[in-house]
Amino acid sequence: MCGIVGYIGKREAYPIILNGLKRLEYRGYDSAGIALYDGSGIQLCKTQGKVSDLEQKVSSHINTTGSLGIGHTRWATHGVPNDINSHPHYSNSGNLVIIHNGIIENYASIKKELLKRGYTFQSDTDTEVLVNLIEEVKKQEDVKLGKAVQIALNQVVGAYAIAVFDKNKPDEIVVAKLGSPLAIGIGEDEFFVASDATPFIEFTNNAIYLEDEEMAIIRLGREVRVRKLKNDKLVDPYIQELKLNLEQIEKGGYDHFMLKEIYEQPSVIKDTYRGRLLAKKGIVKLGGLEDHIQKFVNANRIIIVACGTSWHAGLVAEYIFEDWARVPVEVEYASEFRYRNPIITEKDVVIAISQSGETADTLAAIKLAKQKGAFVYGVCNVVGSTISRETHSGTYTHAGPEIGVASTKAFTTQITVLTMIALRLAKEKGTISQSNYMKHLHELELIPDHVGEALKSDEKIQAIAKVFKDAANFLYLGRGYNFPVALEGALKLKEISYIHAEGYPAAEMKHGPIALIDEQMPVVVIAVNSNHYEKVVSNIEEIKARKGKIIAVVTEGDTTVKELADYIMEVPKTVESLSPLVTTIPLQLLSYHIAVMLGKNVDQPRNLAKSVTVE
Ligand code: M6R
Repeated sequence: MCGIVGYIGKREAYPIILNGLKRLEYRGYDSAGIALYDGSGIQLCKTQGKVSDLEQKVSSHINTTGSLGIGHTRWATHGVPNDINSHPHYSNSGNLVIIHNGIIENYASIKKELLKRGYTFQSDTDTEVLVNLIEEVKKQEDVKLGKAVQIALNQVVGAYAIAVFDKNKPDEIVVAKLGSPLAIGIGEDEFFVASDATPFIEFTNNAIYLEDEEMAIIRLGREVRVRKLKNDKLVDPYIQELKLNLEQIEKGGYDHFMLKEIYEQPSVIKDTYRGRLLAKKGIVKLGGLEDHIQKFVNANRIIIVACGTSWHAGLVAEYIFEDWARVPVEVEYASEFRYRNPIITEKDVVIAISQSGETADTLAAIKLAKQKGAFVYGVCNVVGSTISRETHSGTYTHAGPEIGVASTKAFTTQITVLTMIALRLAKEKGTISQSNYMKHLHELELIPDHVGEALKSDEKIQAIAKVFKDAANFLYLGRGYNFPVALEGALKLKEISYIHAEGYPAAEMKHGPIALIDEQMPVVVIAVNSNHYEKVVSNIEEIKARKGKIIAVVTEGDTTVKELADYIMEVPKTVESLSPLVTTIPLQLLSYHIAVMLGKNVDQPRNLAKSVTVE
């Protein structure tokens, strides 16, 4: 987690770094800090709190002139969030200053050694240990900063993206990465460093994404030198042309990124299938899949690894793949899979789903699956992300930047991609009839319109949110394809409103959760047209009999559930297998409005970060 930003060039560094930190705040927001070189020394300011708190503190504490600087927004790992543990951190001499995203696992033993050598520490962080290790190496080996960083990093175990500079050499920043992302923006006579490209997108479209175990010396007036940390080999870096634009990362008139992202779904789902789904011609074509389709056809099994919302998208995919492509599917929490000594063979295909493409557990699961010989396919949103590079092949979701910590458009676009993969595979295997195949292509093409329709109930949902905003608990129920939607609805509510919520398969309710139901308990039931409709109606009756309050998601025109439920949220009719793409919309809006009414920080809920780059 944590976001890092750096600048070296001819402009004032402070506004660039401050803006960059605001854009990276989704990565962590419990404290923030900045270090600038002002022409004679380092001006450093840091604080517990958000980047806006830093901005206030800076105005009365430091001189902000200078064209070299680094900044950090933190999600605490070692040491509580406070001013001292915030980054940047000085080395003991005060010459070096560092920012770090990641965890140095063996920091305790290094610290012990440094303490013996007379070093002192202000903070509880692993990062302060690292900067002093670099300083010690620099002194002992009598080497320049770049070399010292290289030697020091070869002694540490863990994950990092770092940027460090020396006040005695203010024409360079040294950066390195392992396990945490790091992009270098290449401008004219200026360079940017950041956890992703958003901090520098208005300045340059050219970026180098460092690979794991690479470092770069970024010096003014010279090309960026990239080296392998282990063998010191110079690397010819690939300069990628970025397609991001500023508008995509701004709120565009919405109160929150989450709301903007919910409303973007009709257009981003279209972006996801544009050029890949030609419904009239009966074609689904995914660039990353075509060369590897036989791997999928011959697979004994598909294993899906993911975390959080992406895991829920994987659960929806399980139904789709088994239903159409008749291949057994297992959906695994990446964090469990990686430590379970799972049985994986060369005949398995592993699909890794990740919005950020940086989730540490998913990445570790991919590495394990590759070691065991499986073919690994990625479904990622962030172009150039670590997971998209670590997988054998994959498909991007093309949802555009998702800034709100609560995933919304990532979920629906992941399902869109997984649906296309399953249809393509089913067609190849001949496990789906031509008419069913054509019907689903056609229905998928209509989904953006249906999502647009579902969004029109926003005001009605807002009114429902008002009634239930003070509830202490919520239960979410769904069956079949909509069971994962119930899980996702509950996750959305708890992560942004801090209301306790549980998702359950509706029939499973009788095996325990029904004991929770009384007149205080709102129960959100997904009761759209499906094979299980009658059964879900019975489940609703059971809840009613125990005085639970029913909020039902129903298909437009439904009359049965409408009579039973206390409140309804209507969605347009589609086929059951694609219904998660529409039933999830009212649940996103419900949790959004409840959180807003409770005064919660919707885009940056407490304790969370957008990409979980620590295990
Ligand atoms: O970037 P990823 O999709 O790998 O992230 C996985 C989870 O951390 C993420 O989906 C998380 O659960 C969301 N914040 C939930 O809204």
